Amino acid sequence: MAKLRIGVLYDYWWDDDEERVEGERPKKKSPEEDVQAVYEALKKSGHNPVFVRLDGTAESLIELARSQTDLLFNLVESFAGDDSQDTNIAGYLELLGRRFTGAGSSGLYLAQDKALAKKIFTFHGIHTPYFSTVYRGRTEHSHDIKFPVIVKPAREDGSIGIQFGAVCGSIKELMERIDYIHAEFDTPALIEEYIEGRELYV
Ligand SMILES: Nc1ncnc2c1ncn2[C@@H]1O[C@H](COP(=O)(O)OP(=O)(O)O)[C@@H](O)[C@H]1O
Ligand SMILES: [Mg+2]
Repeated sequence: MAKLRIGVLYDYWWDDDEERVEGERPKKKSPEEDVQAVYEALKKSGHNPVFVRLDGTAESLIELARSQTDLLFNLVESFAGDDSQDTNIAGYLELLGRRFTGAGSSGLYLAQDKALAKKIFTFHGIHTPYFSTVYRGRTEHSHDIKFPVIVKPAREDGSIGIQFGAVCGSIKELMERIDYIHAEFDTPALIEEYIEGRELYV
């Protein structure tokens, strides 16, 4: 097997409690455990891994463009603290003509928009709970849905915004929850019929 120079690409941004200095880059810290684990595993399998860090600055994008790698192991989930940017980072790698692991920009974009993904599932005959999307008083799409419902931000992942209180059994609870989603995430609220039962993760 050829020994590859593999860039372990990850994102880093200021910690919430860190004081940000205008014009300065976030301080260097050792990468998170999962990033280090990927690095170690690649090394163990005979490759030559190097860390490539995106710290939310243009400089780090230029460094990435100049980095010499056969492959980038893409662990980027956000840029400058904005977790909707993973799709643009993949797009940047595509633009640079770099080989990288994981989904491309269009796949990441589709996965980010839960309502759009559900419309595509439905078109292909894959069952997904009936839903509605509401953004600042406007209904953008609606099935005839019944309570109880679960309300989520339309563009988050990792169960963000789906804690206690997401399941609503009345109009009052629903209105309050939609308001919370708008205030907290500034994204459409996705209202889905609540499906009772055990969860299977595929
Ligand atoms: N329609 C639903 N009915 C019942 N539980 C749900 C429903 N939608 C989401 N959940 C629960 O909330 C969790 C997170 O929702 P999900 O849509 O998978 O968001 P994420 O993109 O954050 O993973 C699910 O794993 C499941 O436990
Ligand atoms: Mg999920």
